[in-house]
Amino acid sequence: MGAIPAYPQRPGDPQRGYDTLLNRAALTCGLPYSAYVKAAGKARAGLVRDPGPQFPGRTGHNRQLPYMLSAHQAPGGVELVSTNCLGCHAATFDGRLIMGLGNAFLDMTQDPVVEIAATGSAVTGQAQRTQWRRWSERITRLSADLLTDTVGVNTADHLTLALTAQRDPKTLAWSDKPLLALPPQPALPVAIPPWWNLRKKHALFHSGEGRGDLGRHLLLANTTCTDSVAEVRAMDPWFVDIRAYLASLLPPKYPYAIDQALAERGYPVFQSNCKGCHGSYGEDWRYPNRVVAVGEVGTDPALARAAYNETDHLRSWFAQSFYGELAQLTPALGYVAPPLDGVWATAPYLHNDSVPTLAALLNSAARPAYWRARRTAAGAPIYDPEALGWVHDTLAEGKSAAMSWDERDQVYDSTGKGYGNGGHRFGDTLSAAERRALIEYLKTL
Ligand code: HEC
Ligand code: HEC
Repeated sequence: MGAIPAYPQRPGDPQRGYDTLLNRAALTCGLPYSAYVKAAGKARAGLVRDPGPQFPGRTGHNRQLPYMLSAHQAPGGVELVSTNCLGCHAATFDGRLIMGLGNAFLDMTQDPVVEIAATGSAVTGQAQRTQWRRWSERITRLSADLLTDTVGVNTADHLTLALTAQRDPKTLAWSDKPLLALPPQPALPVAIPPWWNLRKKHALFHSGEGRGDLGRHLLLANTTCTDSVAEVRAMDPWFVDIRAYLASLLPPKYPYAIDQALAERGYPVFQSNCKGCHGSYGEDWRYPNRVVAVGEVGTDPALARAAYNETDHLRSWFAQSFYGELAQLTPALGYVAPPLDGVWATAPYLHNDSVPTLAALLNSAARPAYWRARRTAAGAPIYDPEALGWVHDTLAEGKSAAMSWDERDQVYDSTGKGYGNGGHRFGDTLSAAERRALIEYLKTL
């Protein structure tokens, strides 16, 4: 609890880190490229020719792939397509693709095994088949650990636990039989924090457990298929650069109108009610890196409790591994009060994505127990520049009232374990006018 100290970081090259994020694959297993082209061509006509929005600087076949996929050469010469960090850590906002914005609408409710099986027939030749099988077997083994029943929430923490439970900490050799107790199902819901906060944060993750050399924690973020220390060691320098790049990222600027006079009235409200935990902004910014006890912040305690109480074996695994040579897992029974730079873009709020707008975060009586994001006919979520967050329908009942599985998956049900939307009542005592002004001020961060 209290302030998290700064740890020394290995210096890296931000530009090279950006290039690595766009053009190299940390996930070393994947679908053979030629099978991807065939399967994508059949399933979604035009996908290969029009990969959708792109970040500048993609090279080779990556230029033809959607930004969340990367092509790379596997040992043995087969070119593979794998998911990269940006499927979770980039998103479109108002039609613009934003680096580092957590994808709040990623759908992890569909069993990946179905899609994998559908690609099998597009694979030709022994070398491709070997690669396809490696990928297919690994994802199939992990499929239950990737799933959630709510569109938008993430299971990355759970996946990390499941992956470490099936690897020898010293050699990183994979074992189909778990070597440690597997984490309890279902996975707790986790929101994806924006990357631009790394400029200020001393530790990673919602409870600040990722301490020491942050590059080593990132190295663990996408190593589903790296099964030896040699492989991981070879990638380690990439992550030194990626960390340097993430620490150089700035938040996006609010794209709509701001009432400057109103925002100025919100500034003193922020200074007296929020600054102590969230810091101050502008050129001479201060950020206290505070972890706040679950009892004090009052938000759903399940994730912090799980990280604190149920991860002894993860901590000892980590400490014995290559990752633990320079980094530590130090959970606290609380949550980090995050920097609020670009916070208008990061709805839904809290570590479990339980609150759809900032207006509701600052007035706990206005938080919907059951809600569903409204979408355009094309399926895009709709931003609410008044409440700062996602336009949503408040529902009278939770998932049990849904008419179909698809509908069920769209419902955020705050009565589920880990899904609670209580606590953080620091805006409750403000008047409606103060809250309005505070929201206007938050648009300027
Ligand atoms: C499946 C989705 C997913 C993928 C893929 C993924 N991440 Fe994450 N990432 C998350 C989630 C969820 C969290 C929050 C975990 C927590 O705080 O407990 C997170 C946290 C982080 C954080 C810490 C942010 C903070 O403020 O504490 C960084 C940095 C990060 N990821 C980098 C990466 C990098 C680099 C990659 C690729 C090598 C990657 N991630 C791949 C989902 C993902
Ligand atoms: C006692 C410390 C404390 C005070 C005071 C406080 N906060 Fe927080 N805030 C936190 C913590 C801790 C979290 C993370 C809680 C969680 O995710 O469960 C948080 C989360 C948030 C988030 C969600 C961020 C995200 O991306 O999900 C916002 C927005 C926020 N606070 C705004 C404010 C504002 C505005 C005020 C002033 C009215 C305020 N906070 C006062 C500790 C505090």
